[in-house]
Amino acid sequence: MSKNNSTDSFPDERTEPPLGQQPVKDSSPGPLPSSMQLTSDGKLKHFLTIEGLPPLLLEEILDRAEQFVSLPNKAKVQAPLLRGKTVMNLFFENSTRTRTTFELAAKRLSADLVNLDIRNSATTKGESLLDTIRNLEAMGCDMFVVRHSSSSAAHFIARYCAPHISVINAGDGRHAHPTQAMLDMLTIRQFKGRDFTPLKVAIIGDIKHSRVARSQIHALTTLCAGEIRLIGPQTLMPEGIEKMGVTSYTNIEKGLDDIDVIITLRLQHERMDSAMLPSIREFYARYGLTQERLELAKEDAIVMHPGPANRGVEIDSRVADGPQSVILQQVTNGIAVRMAVMSMVMSSQAATTVES
Ligand code: NCD
Repeated sequence: MSKNNSTDSFPDERTEPPLGQQPVKDSSPGPLPSSMQLTSDGKLKHFLTIEGLPPLLLEEILDRAEQFVSLPNKAKVQAPLLRGKTVMNLFFENSTRTRTTFELAAKRLSADLVNLDIRNSATTKGESLLDTIRNLEAMGCDMFVVRHSSSSAAHFIARYCAPHISVINAGDGRHAHPTQAMLDMLTIRQFKGRDFTPLKVAIIGDIKHSRVARSQIHALTTLCAGEIRLIGPQTLMPEGIEKMGVTSYTNIEKGLDDIDVIITLRLQHERMDSAMLPSIREFYARYGLTQERLELAKEDAIVMHPGPANRGVEIDSRVADGPQSVILQQVTNGIAVRMAVMSMVMSSQAATTVES
């Protein structure tokens, strides 16, 4: 199993369209992510992608998140690590779980939180993304949490925002969704232990359009997972994906054999260029996670889904609500992981300010 894939990428990642209709100077993903998101002494300054991050840093995020998970409820609202800091949620795409858990995380760390109402903001009047950012900076922002349909959005903002600001990627196009992958790793660790080397993990469904799958693969390889299998129709499998140290299966029955962790994914219709599927019904017939198929995996296998789940499309309700499902635990863990990441990027800021 390859340990790190710092230069590997989904083949179509770098050909994403530019940042919507917004006039921007530069929409390329830019310098290698790891060099961009770490300070010179290796601390997390931005969290844009898992690609290229060292295993120890991922472990640190998980260890910190575990501490937040175990805090009693009262203490959770009193953690003062972001007191006096202003966090701005910039969600250019819809979100329920991610936006809300970022919001709860910021509040539990005592930050001031602003949810920018993009639909009613000046970006709809033709203001460029960069101008919006400059104006929000002028209001005293310390951290942007960004979700955007373009794969380069979070990198773009990180490159051009003021030096004291941190950017956290909450999902960009089909590129990356690093906090989702880390909350998934935390969930796996809680149920399967700290050692990922014996684990066989299967990711099922629309791998091609999934930023979650990409970030999960990077996290799993960095944490040295024993085996990663991708299961889905050829049309939803990125070309050359095996370079990332994974094995692809078009037959779900074979792919699920002896598996410890099953991750199901939503069909990302909004990112499909053309009809890539014969029909939803046929997809479910061939790839839906049913109780019968679940029984092909290990007896104690866990079932995960980043949400939003489409019952009867990628997963049967009996499985989604069944005893092996940890889907709601993933949601709960989202708060702790986001608290961990936010507190880490802010402490790197503090160090930078003291040094400079
Ligand atoms: C995912 C996303 O937005 O990328 N969901 C999430 O963040 N919880 C997956 C999806 O939209 O299917």
